[in-house]
Amino acid sequence: MNIIKKDKKYLGREGEPRPLIVANAKNSYVYNERGRKYIDFFAGWCVGDIGWNVKEVVKQIKKFSGPNYVSPGYYYREWAELAELLAKITPGNLTKSFRATGGTEAVEIALQAAMFHTKRSKFISIEGSYHGHSIGAMSVGMSDFRKWYPNLLPYCYKIKSPLDEKAAHRVAELLSKGDIAAFISEPIICNLAVEIPTQRFFNIVQTACKKYGTLFIADEVATGFGRTGKMFACEHYNIKPDIITIAKGATGGFGALGAAIMTAEVAKSFEFDFSFYSTFGWHPLNVAAAIANIKYILKHKTPLFKNINQLSSYFEKRLKPMEFRITPEIRIKGLAIGLEFHKPKYAEDIIQRCLKKGLLIANAGSSNMVIFPPLNMTLETAKEGLNILEKCL
Ligand SMILES: Cc1ncc(COP(=O)(O)O)c(C=O)c1O
Repeated sequence: MNIIKKDKKYLGREGEPRPLIVANAKNSYVYNERGRKYIDFFAGWCVGDIGWNVKEVVKQIKKFSGPNYVSPGYYYREWAELAELLAKITPGNLTKSFRATGGTEAVEIALQAAMFHTKRSKFISIEGSYHGHSIGAMSVGMSDFRKWYPNLLPYCYKIKSPLDEKAAHRVAELLSKGDIAAFISEPIICNLAVEIPTQRFFNIVQTACKKYGTLFIADEVATGFGRTGKMFACEHYNIKPDIITIAKGATGGFGALGAAIMTAEVAKSFEFDFSFYSTFGWHPLNVAAAIANIKYILKHKTPLFKNINQLSSYFEKRLKPMEFRITPEIRIKGLAIGLEFHKPKYAEDIIQRCLKKGLLIANAGSSNMVIFPPLNMTLETAKEGLNILEKCL
């Protein structure tokens, strides 16, 4: 049976897959089974931040000779090492990592920690956002999820864009009742095709959260590890969150791992008195991958961040004058790039034409497209990819 027929018969999917059978990936390229090369402009949605199969990281992971499994209730040297590393690189006073297998579980832990710490159960989040697909994460995600699952968690208030001073005052008003457990948002909202809230928005929200005892959860599952030009997107706004969630770029695709990293104060009321348990959270091999990947990012931090800034300007310079049939709103922060057409179908047509011509681009809804290239993509590859895009308009 051919692979596509087999896939259709045996694999459950969330939607129709794109017509590409991935056989390999290296640096900023993905290869199909016949060895055809595709330029990767979306890095598996902010997973392959340092590109694929990076030699230096692969070498470290190959050296792994630890146990193939450690049960969560024991000590394991590398858990403490990774947690220390995360405490060092995250903004604010986040010191305690809770182990997860990916982003959804990290968000779930964050929501539960907020409920437990505040003894409250209501949440505020951004309309249209995505924080994962568990019942809790969907409850704080876009309201449309309620069409499919009408009984998601109640009292999850959604704030509509634009995320400016007016929107912040709506948040503050809701918070003033003193019964909201947490406000949760991506600092730069990749899932809304790179919505960039104003500084005033976060200033007001952060101050109101402090005033009314509400926790601030920054979902950095997509933005973490340099995507927006800072190690964490919170740093653009001087946000000091109570909890950060990470996954995706933490291992760069070399493993599956997430974490909810919180302040000692929140962790204190959450740990030892609660039943969270993740059998495969921080599996030893994934921990080795995360440590190798994060150490690589730290070692190459200066050239990597220089490259992000240079490429970011280059993408802006090339995208702005491009002759799109529908003029998009172009939003760029580092290498998080969103093009919002405000009309369905056009973006998808371009994405499909690009795929045929050897360029991978993603979308965050029917009326937009997003570009998340590896942070160390060369200027030549970016140029080559943008030339393809231009030809596909
Ligand atoms: C901001 C954000 N949070 C959470 C998630 C869920 O992560 P995962 O797919 O690893 O469960 C995603 C996934 O796209 C995300 O973009």
